[in-house]
Amino acid sequence: MKKKRGFSPKILCFLCKWCGYSAADLSGIQRIQYPPTIRAIEVVCSGMVHPNWVVNSLLSGLDGVMIFGCHLGQCHYGGGNELALKRKEVIEETLFDMGIDQRRFSIKWVSAAEGEQFANAVQEMTQFLKKLGPNTYSVKGPFSHIPPVYDARKISFIYSTNGKDYFWDGNIYEDNLSAHSAISRYLNEGFEAKLVPSKGKILIYTRRVPGKH
Ligand code: FES
Repeated sequence: MKKKRGFSPKILCFLCKWCGYSAADLSGIQRIQYPPTIRAIEVVCSGMVHPNWVVNSLLSGLDGVMIFGCHLGQCHYGGGNELALKRKEVIEETLFDMGIDQRRFSIKWVSAAEGEQFANAVQEMTQFLKKLGPNTYSVKGPFSHIPPVYDARKISFIYSTNGKDYFWDGNIYEDNLSAHSAISRYLNEGFEAKLVPSKGKILIYTRRVPGKH
């Protein structure tokens, strides 16, 4: 297990190319100091970042994930950052279900002229993760019992159909009987549920029905 002492977190940053990337670039040009804890991936828009990318990054042992996008109302594609904000809820809910501290993920809005704000956000996240300690999910995660062929990292946590997102319930069902009895329970509790065959086993994805909880 990683030791907390002298710990330097690894943070993955998705930078929207119009504002996030430009702000990061500007902070470099202005020689504003921030810790070398981030690895950056440029994306066209913050709305492009799929929730699975964030969840899988944290499942892979990264200590934090950040998305930097344009300020709300200033996305170059209209509402990409609004979509990112909606996905934040989805991501946080998934992380909560998996026992990963949701604060390991954050979204920040910056303009291309805000190099200092970018550097400050990285600094704050780094300090926070240092206090929180390493992401030990891979050591003690609730899915560690799943055999390698069903490696949780290879399972899609979100199943989308007809414009709705459903979330994996975290179980692998061996037969139709157990899957159908689980589905009945979910329906009784006010969830929608989808049964999805996978490699001879069954996965169930659920979705809260608005107004029923
Ligand atoms: Fe920057 Fe959409 S272009 S968030």
